[in-house]
Amino acid sequence: EIEKAQSKARIKQLLKERNAVLVAHYYTDPEIQALAEETGGCVSDSLEMARFGRDHPAQTLIVAGVKFMGETSKILSPEKTVLMPTLEATCSLDIGCPIDTFSKFCDEHPDHTVVVYANTSAAVKARADWVVTSSIALEIVEHLDSEGKKIIWGPDRHLGSYIAKETGAEMLMWQGDCIVHDEFKARALTELKKQHPTAAVLVHPESPASVVALADAVGSTSQLIKAAQSMDNDKFIVATDRGIFYKMQQAAPDKTLIEAPTGGNGATCKSCAHCPWMAMNGLTAIESALEQGSDQQHEIFVDDALRLDALKPLDRMLDFAK
Ligand code: 13P
Ligand code: SF4
Repeated sequence: EIEKAQSKARIKQLLKERNAVLVAHYYTDPEIQALAEETGGCVSDSLEMARFGRDHPAQTLIVAGVKFMGETSKILSPEKTVLMPTLEATCSLDIGCPIDTFSKFCDEHPDHTVVVYANTSAAVKARADWVVTSSIALEIVEHLDSEGKKIIWGPDRHLGSYIAKETGAEMLMWQGDCIVHDEFKARALTELKKQHPTAAVLVHPESPASVVALADAVGSTSQLIKAAQSMDNDKFIVATDRGIFYKMQQAAPDKTLIEAPTGGNGATCKSCAHCPWMAMNGLTAIESALEQGSDQQHEIFVDDALRLDALKPLDRMLDFAK
């Protein structure tokens, strides 16, 4: 504990010295989220992280999340130094959507509009017509569908099927998934609901369709927090990374929050519903990123030509979200 306090104090000092701001995702550890708040940074979903980093006057952004979030920040703010606690923090959706095969898939369907989830590399974004995050995906696909567009969707198949079902849009689907949300189990969730009949079920749409079907509210991390705040239920069963419980409990202090089951047999697997890459964003890693400054272990670089191509579909999303 003493070491932690020292580390936090050092991070605070370094943030000031380096004119840096900490931008954290809801899935990082509670102490990292608290530190971002205490130091004037932000804790949010991936859409808001992108906006906050772009609009903040600090010269250096330290992005506590996964690599695509750092890359998005760099694409939007090329003049800023973007550091990450570790560049090894990736995402199974990003890994499962390599640019060569994805680009070939797009080439095979030239009459389709390419819509990609933000959880992708800069190269995949550069190949897309639109980038979306889970908080705006539904509206953007609805808009494209109303214009009669046929859509290629990648990489999350669960989010894609949810959107296709809700909008009726014609979507060719890349078959990626999130290793965290893919683990939620519908049968065990049904059992848990029986034990808590007054509970509402909150589900992130990266979860399988059978789990989404049991939801009372489906949405991005920030939308799920708002749902916990505004719905009258006394309890919520939450199917998303358990990092979210920190802010959700703050937003709804009188409510009981219950983790949705991930393992079979109704058992809640204590280590499943937490993203292993988000977990890499510890205090030591943040401190070392700020100590080292610009270096190969921490700094995000995006090739300039690629950056300009990736900026177009990202800006399209941000303009649409205004
Ligand atoms: P949000 O945009 O809902 O924060 O989701 C990002 C993510 O990685 C979910 O797994
Ligand atoms: Fe990727 Fe899933 Fe981790 Fe989000 S929780 S960063 S989608 S692996």
